[in-house]
Amino acid sequence: MKGNVMTSTQEAKHGSAKAHQLSDNMLRSFFIDELKDVYDAEKQMLKALPKMKKAATSPELQAAFEDHLTVTEKQAQRLEKAFELLEEKVTAKKCEAMAGLIEEGESIIDDTEKGTATRDVGLILAAQKVEHYEIASYGGLAQLARTLGEDEVAGLLEETLEEEKDTDEALTEIAENDVNYDAADEEDEG
Ligand SMILES: [Fe+2]
Ligand SMILES: [Fe+2]
Repeated sequence: MKGNVMTSTQEAKHGSAKAHQLSDNMLRSFFIDELKDVYDAEKQMLKALPKMKKAATSPELQAAFEDHLTVTEKQAQRLEKAFELLEEKVTAKKCEAMAGLIEEGESIIDDTEKGTATRDVGLILAAQKVEHYEIASYGGLAQLARTLGEDEVAGLLEETLEEEKDTDEALTEIAENDVNYDAADEEDEG
């Protein structure tokens, strides 16, 4: 009795087996598309991070950007591995969101003075927006991979997710321990 109730509830929730299979295929295509998007996002960051490091003044912040560049290289490789596991061609599809976030970071560099802690504050803010975008992307994609039964791929995405969270925390620490206070003492000469 109880088993029957469970079954009909599940059917009501997830549809028939056939519909389930169809939606799995659609979901798989969607998932692959999103992987291409996040792969492009990482590629964009590989180009942006050296510029962010160059624009930064605080040695801690420069080191954080340098570290994240190394981590990002590994993340891109992890995505290549994911494509391989899924037997899909490694492809990047332009991530407009990341392009927008990077553009915002560039305008922060344009609008602030070189060698100021205020610029560092702006760079941290821009970088944290990127990390949060990545956290949302990898969190959702890892869940989708589990739903699709692609546990090895999910594991790879979860590894990257943890790295993005660590980076976000490291940036918060740099802001809270140094850069924000230094910036608060800076006079506006503009
Ligand atoms: Fe990343
Ligand atoms: Fe990141």
